[in-house]
Amino acid sequence: MRGGEVVWVAEVGFLLPRGALLLLGICGALSLDIKTSPEVRGYVGEEVVLKCSFKSSFPITESLTIDWTYRPITGGHMETVFHYQSVAYTASVGRFKDRISWVGNAAKGDASIAIQSPSVSDNGTFICSVKNPPDVYHNIPQTVLIVTERGFSFQLTSVTLLSIVVFIPSTVVVVLMLVRMGRKSGVIKEKKKPGCKKSSVEESE
Ligand SMILES: *[C@@H]1O[C@H](CO)[C@@H](O)[C@H](O)[C@H]1NC(C)=O
Repeated sequence: MRGGEVVWVAEVGFLLPRGALLLLGICGALSLDIKTSPEVRGYVGEEVVLKCSFKSSFPITESLTIDWTYRPITGGHMETVFHYQSVAYTASVGRFKDRISWVGNAAKGDASIAIQSPSVSDNGTFICSVKNPPDVYHNIPQTVLIVTERGFSFQLTSVTLLSIVVFIPSTVVVVLMLVRMGRKSGVIKEKKKPGCKKSSVEESE
């Protein structure tokens, strides 16, 4: 155990400034560090990956467990959708029945999962929880999953495209017309001026 601690402190020492290291030394209980994305966007029917990575101060053993829990955005109770201990156990009941797959690598500190064919009703909060006894205390990072129809954003872009396709040519046409009108009136003025002069000359004569 001591050896593991020393190795870990040396590793962390590379990454953190001394103040943070001191703080870690004081609250040494929080020795498992878990990281997830705060928000993940998914599209209906397209596999979405929920990333989770962890760092433990102890070597990873067979007793390492990973649990993913889910709570709908509308509220309601939490459900476990994935469990890992040596092998992956995906949800065989509930909302995510047969829709979760293990894409992580416990030995490399990767606890990511993927959700197949998400729907808009899957909006909610996921929590990635890792225990590597005796390293069991950790932060609880949450990932909010937002699933939208890709069709919506596609419509938006096609509206934008259409307006560009219509707007730019019509602007060009208007500018060209203005330039033409400007030239014509200029030409008329130029023609009129000598004409006027002549007539004025003629009149005076
Ligand atoms: C999920 O979130 C998206 C984006 O906010 C929203 O468009 C969609 O209606 C939500 N679905 C449900 C069931 O609330």
